[in-house]
Amino acid sequence: MAGLGTVGASVVRLLARHGEALARKCGRGLEVRAVCARDPSRDRGIDLSGTTWYADPAEMARASDIDVVVELIGGDSGPAEACVRVALSSGKHVVTANKALLARHGVELAALAEKNGVCLNYEAAVAGGIPIVKTLREAMAGNAVSRVYGILNGTCNYILTRMEKDDLSFAECLADAQRLGYAEADPTFDIEGNDTAHKLAILTSLAFGCKISAEDVYLEGITSITTADIEAADELGYRIKLLGVAQKTDSGIEQRVHPTMVPKSSAIARIDGVLNAVAVDGDFVGEVVLVGPGAGGNATASSVVSDLADIARGDVAPVLGTPATDLVDYARAGMRLH
Ligand code: HSE
Repeated sequence: MAGLGTVGASVVRLLARHGEALARKCGRGLEVRAVCARDPSRDRGIDLSGTTWYADPAEMARASDIDVVVELIGGDSGPAEACVRVALSSGKHVVTANKALLARHGVELAALAEKNGVCLNYEAAVAGGIPIVKTLREAMAGNAVSRVYGILNGTCNYILTRMEKDDLSFAECLADAQRLGYAEADPTFDIEGNDTAHKLAILTSLAFGCKISAEDVYLEGITSITTADIEAADELGYRIKLLGVAQKTDSGIEQRVHPTMVPKSSAIARIDGVLNAVAVDGDFVGEVVLVGPGAGGNATASSVVSDLADIARGDVAPVLGTPATDLVDYARAGMRLH
């Protein structure tokens, strides 16, 4: 385990509580053999006796006595990237919650995983505890998707909800979201919409079988939303939500993230607090909507462990929606990502 912050500590706790049941479900046990964190002395309330501590995540990823590396360091480069590259190159499966890394290097890392015959699983990278990656990859595999959209950032939804319901300032709500462990290490990524854009780009890739292209997402965050905006929307019968939308158009796949006025009568208007919601339109099934906690240690740990369980069971799915080697290049096909 590389990174023992809010999510990492929850993963260790989950494995301690449900390890035996998981071993029965998967046909083999999961054991935390090695950990790597910046501050080994911090009391995280978890038992790590018998575990080897490393200072360098890449060195840990090279260790011969581990099968899977769980990357929870975060960041689209630096130690997280090095750790994942070393792990995949040395034949280890990787489970990561790192949407920024996938948004920037996902295609390359997918190819590296495929080349080495290992998994790169990332259920926790999108919408926290909601199993949207598996839904797109597995449960909805028989559908052509025309649109995927939703609330993909728990911190923003928490801020917008509390500004409206508890009449608190933007800054107070953000501080609370940080205290509760919802926000990114740099919360600018949440409130400026980048985190939503990273997640949307991953969903776009899964839903439409195209490259991850976060830089093609039209981006507007929530920093300029005021209580007056929320009240004005309310008077008109709307609530303001930060939405990520990816849909097929005549010219290609449109990807956008921006605050949106949604009718109070709509299901998405009722998604409050740290909850996320993701809706997918499939041609055979129709619209499927998943709702659940989009951030927080335990919810995200639930998704991390689901990826570990897949690996323990021997379920190996292609990393992205299509094999990385067979991605449609929309730009070359004359289609635009906009
Ligand atoms: N900061 C993210 C959020 C964490 O608030 O949704 C989960 O990806």
